[in-house]
Amino acid sequence: MGNEWFSEWFDENYLLIYKHRNMEDAGSQFDLILKEVVPEKGWKILDLACGEGRYSSLFKNRGYNITGIDLSEILIKSGKEKFPGLKLEVCDMRKISGNYDLILSLFTSFGYFEDEKEDRKVISGIYRSLNPGGLFWIDFFNSEYIKNTLIKKSSTIITEGVTVKEEREITGGRINKKIIFESESGKKEYFESVRMYTKNDLVEMMNSNRLKVEKIFGDYAGSEWDERSERVIIVCRKQA
Ligand SMILES: C[S@@+](CC[C@H](N)C(=O)[O-])C[C@H]1O[C@@H](n2cnc3c(N)ncnc32)[C@H](O)[C@@H]1O
Repeated sequence: MGNEWFSEWFDENYLLIYKHRNMEDAGSQFDLILKEVVPEKGWKILDLACGEGRYSSLFKNRGYNITGIDLSEILIKSGKEKFPGLKLEVCDMRKISGNYDLILSLFTSFGYFEDEKEDRKVISGIYRSLNPGGLFWIDFFNSEYIKNTLIKKSSTIITEGVTVKEEREITGGRINKKIIFESESGKKEYFESVRMYTKNDLVEMMNSNRLKVEKIFGDYAGSEWDERSERVIIVCRKQA
C-alpha cells in the first residue's frame, strides 16, 4: 500500500476536520435510502469505506444486518469504541467479497486511486459481491458543482489552538487538496486527490459493469439531479 494519500489521510485529524459529518448529518441520506430502497430486515448490507461507521450504526440501530469495511485501522478502531457491537472490519475496497443484497458507498468514498483501472476493479468487485438483483447505492460529489464553487485557499480554526489551511486545485481530471494542520505541537501535512468523475462517467461505469442505473438524485433530500446539484446519488441493480 505504501504511502498512497488515502492510507495516510483518514486518521484522527480527518475526524477533527469533519467533526460535523456525524450521525445527525448522516440522517438525511439514511432516510432517503430507507425511502427509496425499502430494504428488508433480512438483507445483508455492506457499508463500503464506512469510516467510523456512522451510517452502519444508523442501520444497525434499526435492526438491519450491516457490515462496515474501511482501510483505515484508526477509524475502524475508533468506530468499534464508539459503536460497541457494530460489525466493522479493516479491508481494502478492491478486495471485497460476499453475497450482499445492498452495497453502499457514501460521502465521496470513490475515485481515490491514481489508476482509473483500480476504480473499475472496485465496481466489478461490487458486482461480484451482490446477490442477483442486489442494489448498489453510490453518493459522490457533482463535479460540475465542484468546478463552479471551488475555493482555492481557506484557513479555519477548527478547535482551540488548531488551524487548518487548505489549498485546492483541479488538475489532470482530479480535485487535489493539500491540508495543513498547524498547532503548538507542530505542523502536519496531508494530501487528498479524487478523480472528477462526472454523472455521465459514473452512469457509464455502472451500466458497463451490468449494474443497471435505476435512479439518480442530486441531493440527500432526493431532488432530481441537474448540473447545479451538489451530489450525484446513483442507485443501480445487478443484472444477471
Ligand atoms: C470521505 S470518507 C467517508 C467515510 C464514511 N463513508 C462516512 O460517510 O463517514 C472515505 C473513507 O474511505 C476510506 N478508504 C480510503 N481508501 C480506501 C480503500 N482503498 N479501501 C477501503 N476504504 C478506503 C477512508 O479510510 C475513509 O474512511
